[in-house]
Amino acid sequence: MKLIIAANWKMHKTAAATAAFCQALRRDEALFEGVDVLVCPPFTSLPAASAGLEGSTIKIGAQNMHSEEKGAYTGEIAAAMLVEFGVRYVIIGHSERRHLMGETDQQVSLKVRAALATGLQPILCLGETESEREQGQTAAVIKRQLTAALEGLAAKDLLSLVVAYEPVWAIGTGKAASADDAEDAAALVYRLAAEHFGAESAKGLRVQYGGSVKAENIGSYMALPSVSGALVGGASLEAESFSALIQAARKAVLH
Ligand code: PGA
Repeated sequence: MKLIIAANWKMHKTAAATAAFCQALRRDEALFEGVDVLVCPPFTSLPAASAGLEGSTIKIGAQNMHSEEKGAYTGEIAAAMLVEFGVRYVIIGHSERRHLMGETDQQVSLKVRAALATGLQPILCLGETESEREQGQTAAVIKRQLTAALEGLAAKDLLSLVVAYEPVWAIGTGKAASADDAEDAAALVYRLAAEHFGAESAKGLRVQYGGSVKAENIGSYMALPSVSGALVGGASLEAESFSALIQAARKAVLH
């Protein structure tokens, strides 16, 4: 399965900083062969990313979108507005949106459907909090979040869907999940997808691990049978460290 490595910049980088990053990352592009690489800048930096990555194999993702096509939703952005800037992917249900902005499973589900209907590939984020983990709720949380998001989808949608398992306690903390935990979660995602749509269709899905991924630890995740990519926050902010991370991931899979 082709690796997919995404840079989630969160609320970082102006348009000027985005342009500089894209210019720097492109220099290493030949070293990323066989990996889907994408950057997910803030909305206002999408035009700069689009211009800076023109003619490149590096793709662009957004960090969020609204589920409606248009309407009285002040401050929100619709899928078609993203497509206009060459956006191909969209992160949906990131834990910061679920936990800081109160995004619900129901909203996440509507967004996933709207993204697919517009031709965007959703990167659906899910994962348990520290207290849910301590209470042994990890599998139940993954099941609840995934089941809600798969509702209303068709088997063929799994070919476009990316699921990012991101335990909340691992995000931005430097405390990355163990490879065993990441594999358990990713394997569970596949099992649940197979229950819904059959084993053959579930094979089309790609599952990323996210949470304190860096060049030094990415290899241990990419070697896992059920993980085929990473969603990267902090270590994606510098072109040099992001490039090193992509190269390390590639090496782990080639060996
Ligand atoms: P991190 O963030 O790599 O900084 O832990 C990952 C994410 O939030 O997607």
